[in-house]
Amino acid sequence: MTLATHDPRALEGRDTATTFFAVTAPGLEELVAAELRDLDIAGVVERGGVSWSGPLGTMYLASLHLRTASRILVRVSEFKARSFIELERHLRRIDWTPFVGSSGGVRLRVTSRKSRLYHQGAIEERFAREIGGALGMEVGTSGGRRDDEDDSSDAENEAQLFVVRFHRDRCLVSADSSGALLHRRGYRRAVARAPLRETLAAAVLLASGWTPDQPLLDPLCGSGTIPIEGALLARRIPPPMANPTHAPRGFAFQHWPDFDPSFWDRIVGAARAAIRHDAPAALLGSDRDAGAIEAAWGNARRAGVEADVHFDTRPLSAIEATPTKGWLISNPPYGVRVGERRDLRNLYASLGNLFRSRLSDWNTALIAADDSLLREVGGPFAEVLRTRNGGIPVKVVVGRPGSR
Ligand SMILES: C[S@@+](CC[C@H](N)C(=O)[O-])C[C@H]1O[C@@H](n2cnc3c(N)ncnc32)[C@H](O)[C@@H]1O
Repeated sequence: MTLATHDPRALEGRDTATTFFAVTAPGLEELVAAELRDLDIAGVVERGGVSWSGPLGTMYLASLHLRTASRILVRVSEFKARSFIELERHLRRIDWTPFVGSSGGVRLRVTSRKSRLYHQGAIEERFAREIGGALGMEVGTSGGRRDDEDDSSDAENEAQLFVVRFHRDRCLVSADSSGALLHRRGYRRAVARAPLRETLAAAVLLASGWTPDQPLLDPLCGSGTIPIEGALLARRIPPPMANPTHAPRGFAFQHWPDFDPSFWDRIVGAARAAIRHDAPAALLGSDRDAGAIEAAWGNARRAGVEADVHFDTRPLSAIEATPTKGWLISNPPYGVRVGERRDLRNLYASLGNLFRSRLSDWNTALIAADDSLLREVGGPFAEVLRTRNGGIPVKVVVGRPGSR
């Protein structure tokens, strides 16, 4: 699928090539590279993300359309430094002004591995001093949180983030262009227990083989993330425009001095024009918890896809047979706590029964943390993705457990 939402010629000759890096959760790199290819951007898969070089407009496009990336960084500088004197000399040469607006301040995230300069606090302090001096402002530090896992508060996201990585004495300095992490589409204010990140829900859908012309059911839908992300895909709603008016959420790069609002508006306008009026097939969710279903409806309303999904309160045992075949895509509970195992075995076995008795032709994609629970469903399954969900290693498997 190539997105007919932009004119690649509009990107040519706007400025010199810059290097970008789309940060991903582990295991999602290939999916992000495929999403970039759909935007005519040739990315290089690296550990933890995908890099590419191009004009600034490619970063606007990627920010608007990527469903599975966590944030997009812009490479600012790369150099070798084995002493603080060397580091300070390099820092004095960096022009920070293209990445910092007039308000909001600056914050830093520093990691160092296998390097002579290993003390992250001391490195952070040098950056804070140099940037603060160059820009005439106070620069805060943030105690070593990882940029791909951190979900900062709205107030923190106001400040421009610079990500600094030392590895084998090489220092890579990047500016965050996203602000709030990209999984924050803006629609999910109501959460049920153990909600799935929007980026992971989109990743499961994209990796599964489901296409929007096929019905989708999540019978353990919690706050509805999988059907809602399915609706966004089916209607070609860019994730940052997941709201009833399709106004995009804000990004850090909009505060940069060279931000080009008319170019941004053109890309947003083209994306808005490509949105479909409705989803071609049913997108269903159910859960036994009435509170979760209420949250799911609220999220669907805020995402502007209320008319495309249907949620109801219903236990797994009450799912009915359907004449049309489709996809059951879900993340069943993993049961990290002791004592939950027996209930979970029963739940996974009921899922297996459901496939054999009522959804025999259906395909499935499940997010699973535990092979022995998966065996209760039946199989065979093929693994299509390995990643982490809320710090737990998980895999995504696909199969047709009801077929004989
Ligand atoms: C891991 S959560 C799903 C989270 C969801 N993907 C989200 O984004 O919010 C699992 C869900 O399964 C539901 N559940 C557990 N046992 C169930 C059963 N027997 N029938 C229906 N729902 C059940 C729970 O209420 C919970 O909402």
